[in-house]
This record gives sequence, C-alpha cells and structure tokens, in this order.
Amino acid sequence: MNIAIIGSGYVGLVTGACLVKLGNKVICVDNDAKKITALKKGILPIYEPGLEELIKDNLKRKRLYFSSSIKEAVKASEIIFIAVGTPDSGSGEADLTGVEKVASEIAVNLKEYRLIVEKSTVPVETGAWLKKTVTTYIKGKVDFDIVSNPEFLREGSAISDFMHPDRIVIGVESKRAKDIMVKLYKPLNAPVVVTNIKSAELIKHASNAFLATKISFINAVSRICDIAGADIGEVSSGMGLDKRIGRSFLEAGLGYGGSCFPKDLDAFISIAGKLGYGFRLLEEVKKVNESQMSFLIAKIKDALWIIKDKNIGVLGLSFKSDTDDIRHSPAIYLIKSLQKEGAFIKAYDPRAMEKAKVVLSDVKFCRNPYAAVSGCDCLLIATGWDEFKKLDFVKIKKLLKRPLIVDGRNIYDPEKMGKLGFSYISIGRKGA
Ligand code: UGA
Repeated sequence: MNIAIIGSGYVGLVTGACLVKLGNKVICVDNDAKKITALKKGILPIYEPGLEELIKDNLKRKRLYFSSSIKEAVKASEIIFIAVGTPDSGSGEADLTGVEKVASEIAVNLKEYRLIVEKSTVPVETGAWLKKTVTTYIKGKVDFDIVSNPEFLREGSAISDFMHPDRIVIGVESKRAKDIMVKLYKPLNAPVVVTNIKSAELIKHASNAFLATKISFINAVSRICDIAGADIGEVSSGMGLDKRIGRSFLEAGLGYGGSCFPKDLDAFISIAGKLGYGFRLLEEVKKVNESQMSFLIAKIKDALWIIKDKNIGVLGLSFKSDTDDIRHSPAIYLIKSLQKEGAFIKAYDPRAMEKAKVVLSDVKFCRNPYAAVSGCDCLLIATGWDEFKKLDFVKIKKLLKRPLIVDGRNIYDPEKMGKLGFSYISIGRKGA
C-alpha cells in the first residue's frame, strides 16, 4: 500500500521504516525542513538500534521518501498516519495543537477516500474531534474514515517491538476501515484487537498508566525491603513468577522517565478529571515515582555526609539504556540536584552526551567510564547500559578517591561488590 506518516519523530520514523519492511511504500512528512533535509541523506535525529540502517537501505531502494509537504503525502497515499507530538500543555493536559493542524491540512487536501489514522498518543475522544475537524475543513464531498491505532513500541527496542507486537489495536467506525487496517498488519501475524475508537484510545493511556503503576508499586516495595532488610530482586522474582502478575516491569530503580509515562500519566489524570473521575491512584503513582529520586539523593548524602565540593562520577544520562533520549531522565534530575548541593559532576553515557550537553551546565563530559570516575568520591549508576555491567572494577577502585558505588539501577551483585572492597549502595537490597 501507499502510506503517509505525518510527523517524523520517534513513533513516526519507526512506523514508517517498519511499514516499508512489510512491503509498503511510505512517505514520511515533517514540518521541520532541516530534519527532512537530513533524513533524505539518511541522517537521523535520534538513536534507535537498527533504525539508521533500515532507513538508509530503503531510501536507496526508493521505497521510503521524506517530504515537507502534507499535500504531496495525501495525494500519494491511501492511509495517512498522524504521528505528531502531543506534549504536555503545561497543565498536565495533552497539547493537541499539532494533531489539529495536521488534521485540517489533510482535510483541505482530500480529493478521494482516505483513511486517517491517529497514531500519536491522545486522550479519549480525540478521534471524535478529528472527525469534526476533517469534516469542517474538507472541500466538497469526499469520504474518509478515522481510525485509532495506538503504538506500544519502546525506545531502545522499537523495531523489534513493532515487528513482533503482543497485539495490534485498531479502533474503527466502519468495516471498510477495519478491512484496510487488518490487511496492512496481516504480514505481522499478530493478534488484532478491533474496538471502537474511544476504547482504542483508552487502551493506550490505560496500558501506559498500568505499566507506570507496576513500576511505582515495586519501587514502593523496595522501600520496605530497605527498611526490613529484604531483597527486592528476590521479592520481584517471587512475585513475577505468578503468571497473573508477570515478571516484566518489576525492576526497582530510580523510577520511570522518558517521553511517554510522565506525560501520558498527566494526560490520563487530566482527561479522567475532565470527564468527572478523579484518578487518585495515578496521582499516588506519580508521587512514588518522584520520591524515588529524592530517596537516592538521601542515600548518597548518608554515605558522603557532605555533598558540597565532592566529585561524583555519573554513568548514564539517558532515561534508560539503548537510547539517546534524555527527556524526563532521572539521571539529569539527579545531576541537577547534586549540583544544587555543591557537587562537581563528571559524566559518561555511550549515546546521550550530545543531548545532555544542551540541558546541563558545569558537567565534565568524559570519553569513557573510567575517565568519569577518576578522582571521584562516589560512582553513581544512573542508567543500566550493558557497557556498565562489564567494567573493570579493579581499575575503577584504583581510580576512585574512595571506593563508593551508589547504584540506582541495581545492576551489580552486592556480594561481589563487597568482596571487591567497595562500599556498595543500591535500591531495596542489603548494601556492602
Ligand atoms: C513506554 C511503553 O513501555 C511503550 O509500550 C509505549 O509505546 C511507550 O512508552 C510510548 O507510549 O510511546 P518507553 O517510554 O520507550 O516505552 O520505555 P519503557 O521501556 O517503557 O521504560 C519507561 C521507564 O520505566 C524508563 O525510565 C525505565 O527505566 C523505567 N522502568 C521500566 C523501570 O524503572 N522499571 C521497569 O521494570 C521497567
């Protein structure tokens, strides 16, 4: 099929590249002309494993195109995905300005039947607004359908998540729309859940909110483990083996960050409130998440006594491993908090340093993990990159001014760290 993706951000680029892989011809659009010029040369604004190769390859094969023109994309494509950003408006509510603008521009250019698919994460009832907007701006009598097709991919494993989804959710109002969407995703051979548009929209918000709740739940339990002397790793394994609970998203740590959970939780609380339901459970999930980071700062203070003038080496800046995304990254929050207390920060991240340089000041960015810990009073693990799991700890111990490791991601074995002579502090586990 011929497909247009409006919005060449994370979701748009991955969706576009993967739909090409499924045998379609895709045109990706963005209103950022610089971004489009770079993308045409195969230069990506983000790091996502495997994405650059996929895009470069399909640019060469002439199956993937980039453009700044919605008009051109609408003309060439039977399915038009809207994948523009829906940022926090400042009050917690999702800002749908981008979605509305794109919808009206699609409408103006509609000449024959098109499927308009809402891919961006949006609050329930957005589909109804999209329909109204398109109907208002459309010129003449042209048929169209609105579809809600939320995306569940994770940064860092986006291509594999897209190609092997647990389920595909399609919210539709007509059989015609359903048939086209089912045909599009047929090659994935995944379970397809067909619902009405509002349910599909809610599935997305409810899924992200549930996963965030799981993380806050296990983080809250980790606090009890700390006090009681239990081990959060053992507790979450013991819980996760129960199929009704499941093992994933039970890793205690610095709390969730990224461009999705914090924003989507706010937006879900906001739309629920507007509809007349005060989602207090999710308010508490947010509070637990926020307190997890201050809890780690308190642990660092406990170990160092005075933070002022201490050198702290931070490993990891992205909000999680395998991405260069620093949006709502716990690492950035921690660094800023420690700087406020007067600490000097040296940092290293395999991918996120360029982006971190834009939001951080007075940080010494280092070429490798060893340079970042050299001469420091404390090594702080803020992101669980694989690279950090394989460090030479004999060397690290020699380089540190004092052998203190504070691990916000629980990536090391406390016993091993103790044997190596470190004072080792992690989350919800006995220290060494
Ligand atoms: C999340 C969802 O997992 C995707 O399904 C969804 O499509 C996406 O949001 C979105 O709405 O676009 P993402 O934000 O890329 O994906 O990353 P996750 O792997 O979900 O991690 C989110 C945060 O939770 C990270 O800060 C991570 O470190 C943290 N986390 C995750 C934990 O603290 N513990 C865990 O057990 C799992």
